[in-house]
Amino acid sequence: MSTSSRKLDHVRICLERQVESMWMPFEDVMLVHKALPEIDEASIDIRCRFLGKEMKTPLLISAMTGGHPEAREININLAKAAQEVGVAMGVGSQRAALEDPAQIETFSTVRDTAPDVPLIGNIGAAQLRKLGLEAVDRLAEMVDADAVAVHLNFLQECIQPEGDRDASGVLEALRIATSGKIPIIIKETGAGISREVAQTILGSGVKTIDVSGVGGTSWSGVEAYRAEEIGDISSKDLGELFRSWGIPTPVSIVECASAGAEVVASGGIRSGLDVAKSIALGASIAGAALPFLKPATLGSEEVVSTLQAYVRALRTCMFLTGSQDLASLKHASTVMILGRCREILEQRGLDTKKFSIYREMAK
Ligand SMILES: Cc1cc2nc3c(=O)[nH]c(=O)nc-3n(C[C@H](O)[C@H](O)[C@H](O)COP(=O)(O)O)c2cc1C
Repeated sequence: MSTSSRKLDHVRICLERQVESMWMPFEDVMLVHKALPEIDEASIDIRCRFLGKEMKTPLLISAMTGGHPEAREININLAKAAQEVGVAMGVGSQRAALEDPAQIETFSTVRDTAPDVPLIGNIGAAQLRKLGLEAVDRLAEMVDADAVAVHLNFLQECIQPEGDRDASGVLEALRIATSGKIPIIIKETGAGISREVAQTILGSGVKTIDVSGVGGTSWSGVEAYRAEEIGDISSKDLGELFRSWGIPTPVSIVECASAGAEVVASGGIRSGLDVAKSIALGASIAGAALPFLKPATLGSEEVVSTLQAYVRALRTCMFLTGSQDLASLKHASTVMILGRCREILEQRGLDTKKFSIYREMAK
């Protein structure tokens, strides 16, 4: 099966099936209500800088697609909305365009449509190891990217019958990639990144980590549906068994921030409330993929409305915690972690009362 038709299967399954985690770990995170905020809501400032560019709001449309004519339309609608609302955007894996240059335009159209936003290219870790530094430059040039995200998806590769399960040599490939001129971001795809792995990644020269933890789209779940469709019962069973495998997003934010990474929060960010919680826990910006997919099949206005709902809820959170800007939200002493996320962090030796110290480390 070609990369292009596999990616189209993924989009279709994400649109038609229940692919999300049953557990919503952001319910374990609470922002303390400030009954007397003493600020004017109208003066709240949610602008930030990311990848050297000014953004109107700390949001990212996470990597999804490209490499097929249908994906082109989705990318154009996402890009129009990103440009209008002033958020960052990632394209899906550009592997299909490396294999078939006819697909390049389904990615490059994103930069033509969104000239001012921080734009992130995308490639899998296994492909990076095979293709090397020269490919990173080609990927970045293809979309005029501000950074290239290298995605880790070894859980998904385990469930795919045709998956690439050789993870050896990825770290060396990363070291080489970070010696180039394009900033490299490491991102997971729904299973999260621990403090130890974050430290190893930072040691390779990467500065920004997109945690993409458990709580949103489950790629093990998506592959289970795909296996079911082709009658591969063994892969279907494995995919279902590992559906919730990984590190919950709020835990992964704290772990990666405490390692000193610039953190992008993603994986189950389903509202502006989750964005606010992520920033209070130490993230710089927050991204979501699945919530924008259906709107993007309908039109750019639908994506804009979804983004605006995030912005409105984020501003509401900031007002009700008395946070004038994102720096004050990050330094607010108003975030608490409860329940299972707290237990995990405590078991992992991270003191949940020391967020301020971890957040200081996340520069
Ligand atoms: C349809 C779809 C396609 C995706 N394709 C990619 C991809 O090509 N590269 C990548 O790094 N992540 C990809 N992802 C993963 C997302 O970027 C994100 O890490 C993950 O879905 C968790 O975020 P969510 O819970 O908001 O969906 C894809 C997600 C979706 C929904």
